[in-house]
Amino acid sequence: MNYDPDEPGSHGLELDPFKALVAPRPIGWISTIASNGQANLAPYSFFNAFATEPYYLAFGSGGVKDTLANIQATGEFVVNMASEELAAAMNATAATVSVDEFTLAGVAKAPSVKVKVPRVAAAPASFECRHFQTVPLPNDAGEANDFLVIGRVVQIHLDERFVEAGRVNTAAMRLLSRLGYLDYATIERSWRMERPD
Ligand SMILES: Cc1cc2nc3c(=O)[nH]c(=O)nc-3n(C[C@H](O)[C@H](O)[C@H](O)COP(=O)(O)O)c2cc1C
Repeated sequence: MNYDPDEPGSHGLELDPFKALVAPRPIGWISTIASNGQANLAPYSFFNAFATEPYYLAFGSGGVKDTLANIQATGEFVVNMASEELAAAMNATAATVSVDEFTLAGVAKAPSVKVKVPRVAAAPASFECRHFQTVPLPNDAGEANDFLVIGRVVQIHLDERFVEAGRVNTAAMRLLSRLGYLDYATIERSWRMERPD
């Protein structure tokens, strides 16, 4: 089939398949602090890395949620990678609440090095970021409800339990991935392929 995504229901399916098609998506479990000093933690699966010289990460926010509002106020955030053992806690932090989601979900904080925002102590990896730019993503009327938030990575934390012979064993981290609907995946197996010259 093919369909025009701007025509409501033109896919003819029970639910919009878009997120099930762009999958698996890593989950950026993003910590921030509000201008009143309260910590905030929430998952974002419209998330990925985009550059290495220097390193940039970005995520998509549907509306100006607490995470984006805090980033606009402080200019800082931390992206924590969520592993399978943190799945229930990650899900709990998706609640729309105005409390510290670290406390709500029983997630231990660890201090960051270059930003004031705490990171998730148990995350296999965390990326301290300074806000670079927020790009509004407009509809045909020129109104933006969605925003692409780009951060420059200024410090990286890596749990050395996952380092083997000088390389990170990504599969061993059992990083959580989001599929469509309420479906998730974890990498069970990885394999290597040489590139052509
Ligand atoms: C696995 C998962 C992935 C999510 N990804 C996104 C996303 O990419 N963009 C978004 O706006 N909301 C996403 N959400 C919903 C937010 O986490 C939710 O709205 C949360 O309350 C936002 O928290 P905040 O207001 O503290 O930023 C996701 C939720 C879950 C459970």
